[in-house]
Amino acid sequence: MTGPWLIALAAIGLPQAAPADEAAPAAAIVSPQRQQALVRIVRQDCGSCHGMRLTGGLGPALTPEALADKPLASLAATVFHGRPGTPMPAWRSMLSEADAQWIAERLLAGFPEEAR
Ligand code: HEC
Repeated sequence: MTGPWLIALAAIGLPQAAPADEAAPAAAIVSPQRQQALVRIVRQDCGSCHGMRLTGGLGPALTPEALADKPLASLAATVFHGRPGTPMPAWRSMLSEADAQWIAERLLAGFPEEAR
């Protein structure tokens, strides 16, 4: 997945694939437009398993309460790589690692509603 932010990123010389726990908050490197697209992806694609309100379904709840004791880096890794042997798919063909980290950060903080 490439986008204008990747080019901007290359231009300012930040590493593109820093491990999630060393990276700056992903909001600094994921463009506002991409953030909006990610909200849509999570509400629509992740919601099919994790529930329309992310309160759980086939997959567990992804609310701040449910995730409170889980490390950010492991949540981001679960989104990026999936959980082999469970229905949780890998999203690395659709999401960059920064995207996955941004999603994990936002899940821990309370996921935004889709803009209309
Ligand atoms: C096909 C169903 C399915 C889809 C689609 C799906 N998940 Fe999951 N997800 C699961 C299941 C099942 C688990 C629990 C895996 C396990 O048993 O460890 C899980 C686990 C997780 C976890 C770890 C939760 C925890 O408590 O540790 C996160 C974070 C997560 N998913 C995020 C996402 C995101 C973000 C998306 C969309 C990009 C997504 N999932 C799409 C089924 C799904």
